[in-house]
Amino acid sequence: MAKITTKIKVRQMKDNDIAPIARLYIRAFSEPPWNERWAIKDVVKDITYARSQEHPIMLVAVSGDALVGFTWGYSLRPRDFPFLEGQLSARSMYVDEIAVCNEFRKQGLGTLLCTNLISMARDIGFEEVILRTDLRNNSSMKLFSSLGFRELGVSDPQYSSRIYLRKSLSGLLRE
Ligand SMILES: CC(C)(COP(=O)(O)OP(=O)(O)OC[C@H]1O[C@@H](n2cnc3c(N)ncnc32)[C@H](O)[C@@H]1OP(=O)(O)O)[C@@H](O)C(=O)NCCC(=O)NCCS
Repeated sequence: MAKITTKIKVRQMKDNDIAPIARLYIRAFSEPPWNERWAIKDVVKDITYARSQEHPIMLVAVSGDALVGFTWGYSLRPRDFPFLEGQLSARSMYVDEIAVCNEFRKQGLGTLLCTNLISMARDIGFEEVILRTDLRNNSSMKLFSSLGFRELGVSDPQYSSRIYLRKSLSGLLRE
């Protein structure tokens, strides 16, 4: 994999990142397998929701003035995932979103964003990180598997190609 050659900084999200995040979000999730159509106001709602959760971690990657990636996560609320009952530790972080702009992909930026998020989650005291992605999405499947995420082995009753992954942070949980 080609490594990032330009200077990239990962930092906490600020209010004036929201507009460029929304633009990147809309582009990234319009691609297969997502094929989603997002309006800016709905992305803003998503961000507002994430920030209102317990222990939000909201990160962006910037190259100079350009926002080139983002990720965020927060404390997982078991009631939002009833089909994961019995599978979760008491302190799980849910990684809600990650995207990197096209021109910067496959250079290690998704890995950089995710490792920053994981390390901050560990510092907060989370015992595991949970996320969901889509089996058909080669890029995220590869990214998360190389970071040590493993299948939870549960399926989402609403979406058959969704897959739930876990990475233990305590070293005590089954990976
Ligand atoms: C998923 C995504 C964030 C990955 O970002 P990235 O910056 O390209 O990731 P990295 O460069 O760190 O790559 C991580 C690993 O995945 C591999 N990879 C990345 N894209 C790949 C692809 N399309 N096909 C196969 N492998 C791929 C890399 O080669 C690398 O492998 P390695 O660890 O063995 O070297 C990016 O593709 C993206 O924004 N996709 C659209 C949004 C999305 O799907 N988000 C995930 C939602 S769950």
